[in-house]
Amino acid sequence: MKGLKVVFIIMCAALLTLGLSVTANAFHAGGVAECMGCHNIHDAKSTSALLAGTDISSTCINCHGVTGASSYHIVTPDADMPAGTPPGNRTPGGDFGWLKKTYTYSPRAGSNVTEAGDTHGHNIVAVDFGYTADGTNLTAPGGDMDATQLSCNSCHDNHGKLRRLSDGTIATTGAPIIASGSYNNSADPAAGQAVGVYRLLRGNGSTAGSGGKTFSAVFNAVVPSTYNRSEATAPTRVAYGAGISDWCATCHSDMHSGTSSKMTHPVNQGLGTDVAANYNAYIGSGNMTGTNATSYDSIVPFQSDNTSDYTVLRSLADNTNTVKTGPATSDRVMCLSCHRAHATGWKHMTRWNNEGELIIVDGVYPGTDSPSAVGVLAKWAQGRTVAETSKAYNDKPATAYASYQRSLCNKCHAKD
Ligand code: HEC
Ligand code: HEC
Ligand code: HEC
Ligand code: HEC
Ligand code: HEC
Ligand code: HEC
Repeated sequence: MKGLKVVFIIMCAALLTLGLSVTANAFHAGGVAECMGCHNIHDAKSTSALLAGTDISSTCINCHGVTGASSYHIVTPDADMPAGTPPGNRTPGGDFGWLKKTYTYSPRAGSNVTEAGDTHGHNIVAVDFGYTADGTNLTAPGGDMDATQLSCNSCHDNHGKLRRLSDGTIATTGAPIIASGSYNNSADPAAGQAVGVYRLLRGNGSTAGSGGKTFSAVFNAVVPSTYNRSEATAPTRVAYGAGISDWCATCHSDMHSGTSSKMTHPVNQGLGTDVAANYNAYIGSGNMTGTNATSYDSIVPFQSDNTSDYTVLRSLADNTNTVKTGPATSDRVMCLSCHRAHATGWKHMTRWNNEGELIIVDGVYPGTDSPSAVGVLAKWAQGRTVAETSKAYNDKPATAYASYQRSLCNKCHAKD
């Protein structure tokens, strides 16, 4: 039986790599997967819940952390990323492998910087794979969730009960789940059917994961069915809809400008005339010649108004360079405009480097092995190889921006 299952998973992986629809061969298929994929009834490794791994996240990483950067893989094995080699997966959520990448460098004589890997994202605890709780954040910043409890299960429902019914209602029961609802080629559920919610994420109505929080928001989004890929020639455009920032604020309420008394960057509000105009005109530092028709940048995404209409969201999810339109004034800034959900190559899990003035120097991504005499300087390279810097932008070409490119905050604010 075990042998068969391994063959099945390899087959799935092969099909996914080829970009074929896997509805028939999927594992979770939008809902609860085959019980024995995660549980071991008479030979479990965990002390509770008879899991196949020592803890919850290790159970997931057994499959999601195998070698080969494609499809549902989101944890690069340590052996595949020695010093100087970046984690390989380029999914919208990001590769947890960045948590193991600590960078030390000396930007000027006498000053040494250590950028700890655990600042690069959500430190899920997975002892079988050497992932431990964050060394600094004892709780979620801006909230009170205990960081030692953070697991895949805190955000995703291991049993995937939440579903989208044919009338758009989100509920934990009411009709059977026929398949994943995450993709631009996912079926529209007919009467009496349902599809899984986006990425099996917890949401309004699902219970809390162990040690986690009860959500009151739903994360509405659609992703192209091939999403773990280089963005060298076309961006992977996730259509983000209503609820994203409120969803993150479940554990980080004080980081949300709408729910916090602290002064914090606006989220979940319309871009307005000036910011939308900047976004549409901005190509790179010193180049404001862009237009709405082609201005979309997956490194700085925005939320489509406040929509939970999946016909609209499906039409916006793209990886073929077809849907390049930038925002309307009613489209919104969200937590994921600046952060990813799992981990990134940068401090505080931001989508681009916010630790310095320039992100591209002398026409190339900086790095310790940069061909440029300027780009090789420690101040810009920050302990990374060019391959690591490039991968942190999902290999989007440096030539897409300016030769001396400043922070991508400027995509919305044009202060450069
Ligand atoms: C994707 C992995 C995965 C699959 C597939 C899965 N489980 Fe679980 N299950 C878990 C995890 C992880 C826990 C522990 C949850 C916790 O401690 O918060 C768990 C806990 C449980 C528990 C005890 C706690 C509870 O929620 O009641 C039961 C019972 C259970 N699972 C039954 C099942 C059955 C039946 C199936 C198949 C229909 C199944 N599981 C499929 C991951 C999975
Ligand atoms: C036995 C291997 C296996 C295990 C264990 C496993 N997964 Fe998966 N997972 C897959 C495969 C294969 C896919 C892609 C096909 C699919 O979605 O069913 C996938 C897809 C997913 C997706 C995207 C689904 C969608 O519809 O968008 C999420 C989210 C996910 N897994 C989370 C988890 C979490 C959380 C756990 C642990 C509680 C887990 N997985 C355990 C194999 C596994
Ligand atoms: C802090 C919340 C959080 C945690 C913890 C988390 N995820 Fe996710 N995950 C998300 C969100 C949100 C998305 C959707 C990202 C997007 O589309 O921008 C996602 C996306 C995914 C995907 C689709 C591929 C991608 O990266 O976009 C998979 C597979 C997945 N998660 C599995 C896991 C597994 C396995 C774990 C544990 C090792 C885990 N997640 C931990 C929130 C989380
Ligand atoms: C289930 C609770 C939960 C949810 C939901 C959640 N987080 Fe977190 N987050 C945490 C915890 C716990 C920590 C502290 C542990 C750590 O830093 O690894 C944290 C840390 C962070 C950090 C700090 C990373 C660092 O080390 O500086 C950022 C940034 C962050 N979260 C952003 C987000 C965003 C964006 C979302 C929505 C996509 C989100 N979080 C959703 C629990 C959550
Ligand atoms: C405009 C870009 C932007 C938006 C929008 C944004 N963040 Fe951040 N966030 C950052 C930057 C840059 C940092 C690191 C610098 C800092 O701490 O001020 C950061 C830091 C954080 C930290 C780490 C704080 C710490 O004390 O270690 C958390 C947690 C966080 N953000 C969560 C969120 C959540 C949740 C949202 C949405 C409610 C959000 N952010 C929206 C840019 C943003
Ligand atoms: C997706 C677009 C977007 C991105 C990216 C973005 N912002 Fe903003 N920002 C906005 C919007 C919308 C507002 C509110 C409208 C305005 O002030 O023009 C805003 C407002 C601000 C304000 C004024 C806040 C106030 O209360 O007056 C500051 C300062 C700011 N942003 C800084 C930043 C920095 C720094 C970054 C990069 C870390 C950043 N923004 C990235 C959209 C964005």
